[in-house]
Amino acid sequence: MKNVNEKVYKMLCEVHTAEIGAVGIYMDQHTKCEDLGLKKLAEILEKDAIDEMKHAEILAERILFLGARVKNQKHELPVEKQVDPVEMLKLNIDIEIKAIARLNEGITTCFNEKDHGSRMLLEEILKSEEEHLSDLQTMVSNIEKYGDTYVVSHLM
Ligand SMILES: [Fe+2]
Ligand SMILES: [Fe+2]
Repeated sequence: MKNVNEKVYKMLCEVHTAEIGAVGIYMDQHTKCEDLGLKKLAEILEKDAIDEMKHAEILAERILFLGARVKNQKHELPVEKQVDPVEMLKLNIDIEIKAIARLNEGITTCFNEKDHGSRMLLEEILKSEEEHLSDLQTMVSNIEKYGDTYVVSHLM
């Protein structure tokens, strides 16, 4: 192992763990929505899951590049009980808000530890999570405003 900065390493592993957790949760929702006949929503959730997988990949590559190994940590598990699509979307809003906070903290850590290469990667991921959050919030507010009309025309 090279002289990897411990604070940056620990943070990158935590962000990586959260990304893998999000992959599991979004894939679980993706298949549930497909089963409910919500084809378009299922596709959106699948795309988000793939985005999170790519984030995890970038982070794992960075950790290896820094000369360290990805720590095997406990991942977040899918919440079994959520079957309602609005509940799923609200859970994801929560996940994305937490991810954005975690990434902003991580960017500050990278800045303080003068690891600007890692910082730039986190900034790319942050922009992607901000888009996820914005899209999720739009969907929930449209469902609340237009109800089934929106679900049928945009999510089925
Ligand atoms: Fe992500
Ligand atoms: Fe995300």
